[in-house]
Amino acid sequence: MIGLFERLARPFLHALDPEDAHSLTIKMLACAPLPRAAGDDKRLAVRAFGLNFPNPIGMAAGFDKNAEVPDALLRLGFGFVETGTVTPLPQRGNPRPRVFRLNADRGAINRLGFNSQGAEAVLRRLAARANAGGIVGINIGANKDAADRVADYVRLIERFAPIASYVTINISSPNTPGLRNLQQAEALDDLLARVIDARERVTRQAGPTPLLLKIAPDLSLAELDDAVGVARARRVDGMIVGNTTLTRPASLREMKIAKEAGGLSGRPLLPLATRMLAETYVRVESAFPLIGVGGIDSGTAALGKVRAGASLIQLYSALVFRGLGLVAEIKSALLSALERDSLDSLSELVGADAAAVTAEAWPG
Ligand SMILES: Cc1cc2nc3c(=O)[nH]c(=O)nc-3n(C[C@H](O)[C@H](O)[C@H](O)COP(=O)(O)O)c2cc1C
Repeated sequence: MIGLFERLARPFLHALDPEDAHSLTIKMLACAPLPRAAGDDKRLAVRAFGLNFPNPIGMAAGFDKNAEVPDALLRLGFGFVETGTVTPLPQRGNPRPRVFRLNADRGAINRLGFNSQGAEAVLRRLAARANAGGIVGINIGANKDAADRVADYVRLIERFAPIASYVTINISSPNTPGLRNLQQAEALDDLLARVIDARERVTRQAGPTPLLLKIAPDLSLAELDDAVGVARARRVDGMIVGNTTLTRPASLREMKIAKEAGGLSGRPLLPLATRMLAETYVRVESAFPLIGVGGIDSGTAALGKVRAGASLIQLYSALVFRGLGLVAEIKSALLSALERDSLDSLSELVGADAAAVTAEAWPG
């Protein structure tokens, strides 16, 4: 039913400004009586960060920034949902238009700039569904005008760690000036020391909430060495690789839209994001699991992420072009891959191609 509904709705949604189409989609998900996706095959289950995921496919941050529809997304078959990015205080983000579709490339560019209803509103919604089950994480970011950005992260950890399944520290959005500087070794070490200290303080009774670090695919390999070194030394629970890219691959066809400022996502991001995932995997040496995100738009791309080093995957942009049926398509592709090799679990494929991917020519 959702498939038919989507097929009818998609041409209409595509005729709208991308941000209006997105708001309408959130409203529809909040109101429509949604069918529950079929139960997941046990072989798709993943244990990571101390959590049990029914399947490895997550909704990436940015789709449900204000935690309005996490349960609808879980119902539709996602194995987990990352809400946010939320900022401590409400903020509008950049002026519109600020989201652009690259139709011929199956990509998108956004410069939203952390538009957020703020911590109070998001906290209220997550608290209201806290006993509903399912894995719902929160991605946190600093306010644009914060005098002390690290203090913003600490504040958000204190509020959200007791209630979210996991918390992602987002220091990789390209649309908040200077934010990505927090990825540099000294700044990152200070940030992680303070947020982990905050996590220990607030979750002493409830058990530690996993803390994940989401990085940009645009780090140099030397910067990645440092970021992974600090993440390992500070014992984060996992990393997400990664956010949107400021680069513009030579293959892009929508030349005019490609000149818009902002982060590129979707299919054109796949080669770079997968390469950075593999580079991260070989540096992490299984100290913690990775979530692979960037350009997944098929079962083959999802399997490629797992083989490059992802224990879990997330996606966003491809849903605009492929619709929610993509989630079921990826599940059956992953199961076929397991059957082909007579395997019982995806964990046996994680990182199988990482070394080979890092030996390829750098994606251009
Ligand atoms: C419109 C839009 C908004 C986004 N907002 C956020 C965000 O608030 N926080 C974040 O960490 N990532 C955000 N992202 C990045 C996605 O979570 C993801 O890392 C990126 O889009 C690559 O995945 P994809 O190619 O499957 O879209 C956003 C992406 C898009 C397209």
